[in-house]
Amino acid sequence: MRFARLCSVGVWFAGLTLAAQVRAVPDRQQWFLTAGQSTYAVGVDDKNMLESLYWGPALPADATLLKAQSRAERSSNDGPMNTTPLEYPAWGGGLQLEPALKVDSPNGDRALVLVYDSSKVDSNQLEIILKDTVQPVRVHLHYQTYAEGVLARWSTVENAGRQPVRIEQAASGTWNLPAGTDYQLSWLTGQWGGEFQLHTAALLNGAQVLESRRGSTGHQANPWFSIGREGQTTETAGPVWFGELGWSGSWRINVERTALDQVRVTAGYNPYDFAYVLQAGQTLDTPHVYAGYTAGGQGEASRILHRFQLAEVLPLGPTPKPRPIIYNSWEATEFRVSEAGQMGLAEKAASLGVERFVMDDGWFGQRKDDHAGLGDWYVNKEKFPNGLKPLIDRVHTLGMSFGLWVEPEMVNPDSDLYRKHPDWAMHFPDRQRTEARNQLVLNIAKPEVKAYVFNWLDKLVTDNDIAFLKWDYNRNWSEPGWDSAPGEKGSPDAAREIYVTYVQNLYDILQKLRAKHPKLEIESCASGGGRTDAGILRYTDEVWPSDNTDALDRLSIQDGFTHAYSPQTMAAWVTDVPNYLDRRVIPLQFRFLVAMQGALGIGNDLNKFSADDMELSKRMVAFYKGVRTTVQQGRLYRLQRPEGREASQVEYVSPDGAQAVVFAYLHSQQYGMVQPQVSLQGVDPNARYRVRPLDETKYTGEAVVSGAVLLGSGLPLQLRGDYDSTAVILERQ
Ligand code: DGJ
Repeated sequence: MRFARLCSVGVWFAGLTLAAQVRAVPDRQQWFLTAGQSTYAVGVDDKNMLESLYWGPALPADATLLKAQSRAERSSNDGPMNTTPLEYPAWGGGLQLEPALKVDSPNGDRALVLVYDSSKVDSNQLEIILKDTVQPVRVHLHYQTYAEGVLARWSTVENAGRQPVRIEQAASGTWNLPAGTDYQLSWLTGQWGGEFQLHTAALLNGAQVLESRRGSTGHQANPWFSIGREGQTTETAGPVWFGELGWSGSWRINVERTALDQVRVTAGYNPYDFAYVLQAGQTLDTPHVYAGYTAGGQGEASRILHRFQLAEVLPLGPTPKPRPIIYNSWEATEFRVSEAGQMGLAEKAASLGVERFVMDDGWFGQRKDDHAGLGDWYVNKEKFPNGLKPLIDRVHTLGMSFGLWVEPEMVNPDSDLYRKHPDWAMHFPDRQRTEARNQLVLNIAKPEVKAYVFNWLDKLVTDNDIAFLKWDYNRNWSEPGWDSAPGEKGSPDAAREIYVTYVQNLYDILQKLRAKHPKLEIESCASGGGRTDAGILRYTDEVWPSDNTDALDRLSIQDGFTHAYSPQTMAAWVTDVPNYLDRRVIPLQFRFLVAMQGALGIGNDLNKFSADDMELSKRMVAFYKGVRTTVQQGRLYRLQRPEGREASQVEYVSPDGAQAVVFAYLHSQQYGMVQPQVSLQGVDPNARYRVRPLDETKYTGEAVVSGAVLLGSGLPLQLRGDYDSTAVILERQ
């Protein structure tokens, strides 16, 4: 260790001391990055190129690896660029695989060959600078280790010359896995009303592309991946290499198994329709990728991401307050909001124990339906003759905070804003603008549009006592143009920086708003879960995962969601039956227990509730308050996943291990079969737990049970009939 330099920080989590450190071994030109229980290592090879050396279980503090060696030409068709596991491969020098970077230089040179230049270690951060052998282009590779078990990577491309260069493709990083033929990929796809569907399949030769070309994160795929080993990796065990991209614009994750069975993942900006011109001296930062390795299966990979998001990503981390129980008016009233109507709902919501009342769409401009009003953010005088104050005051008197729906990035052509500034909407010259939900996207990449959006939001929150904004975003991009901007923005290449600048400006607006109004909380909603990613979660406190509130569908949506995101960020409402989407009728308790898997909310038309419904709801809300911190901030165990099964169970264990809660659901009863018991996880085998069932009749075990028994054989629960459900709290003695 004579030549090693070590920088380290640590955290204590659930009985484990976890380290975040960067260790340089200068005589071998190697760097070891330890994050929790995993290590990642890179090194400079004999050709002065940076290689990925290791990604797996944590290595001892004095571990070294053989000096990196570039691969020899395997055949004239498989040159070293394609067989050497390069840490940040640029297109050039014969690279035929997915590049992390592709740049055009002014003299027509379209290649880059990046070699090592220098490095810097600072606490738990590492920066390695690569430079091209010919062009004045440098790339700064940034690494940051987190004790929660995550390694963040991003890169900065720098034009160190005097002429502009044009970036065609830029990734945050490339991740090389140990060579192998038995990998399986898990990924999330979806649709409106059916987000976060989890898939797992063998990783075959070729490339699998997970992406959004939509200008935003998208419902159709989520920027998360997880790679395991076939036959080894399960929910509870086996190796998992996982990661997620923190970017809310068009993105791409390319998972490639080469013809020679090397596996690499490249994640960053989507190169589709992309260009970013770097003037002399300018830089472009790529989004952060948060990745990790665990030997503890898919469940542990999720728990690492959950605790990382709570501690390091969410704006109010490292100890964000648990989410309040909200009421939201959307499914009850849709656009038909009024002062009296909202006050009536607020009174009923408060009597249930709700803590925040949120008025959804319909309160502003000439908004009667989705044809008009977006862009005109004044209070509709017909619906609220005295402004929002009387309603907000009433909500406060009832002991709740107030939240409001906004959709700041959109404009209806039928609005004063659009009539005044038609050029503020994204468009191409002389071409019909494609509407979706009768609306267009405002180009917040333009400084004046960005300023307008910030100013009205700032005024809204300054003039009204608003604790929470539900920030909606209901369509994808079309005609992402910038023709009327001054100067060089009119050039086709420069205009494409919209893919970067729009999202940066969105983040800026959110960040400035939060800085000016530190108590303000924000939900990211995009027709449901269309903007759920680790980038938006830096500026928002939760997301709305889906407009589908049917409790049965929600089970699989929420199961997929928690693979990538913390339950604290997962807003979930109980709503009316028959469900508006599926027409399914599910008992109220089941609906509550499903919504309790995340941040509980209520979206029912409470005017239709019977006295029994009100009573049961009060009981459910009180029960949730007793377990909310455990659910939102504890360790989640997906005991029995819902997909394709008649029953499912989830368990949460509080960070200090003092409380656990199990939610059990019988989706459909068949043949009168009694459901088998499911072993618990994450409890202490040496402890004893007092059992507090929600329904005395559905738990047939003892009042105090040993942790070893719970781990061995689970809880004896009696669920009978379609959509029966229950919950059990365990308190460590
Ligand atoms: C889409 C959201 O996902 C819904 O919850 C609701 O807010 C509507 N927009 C309002 O237009």
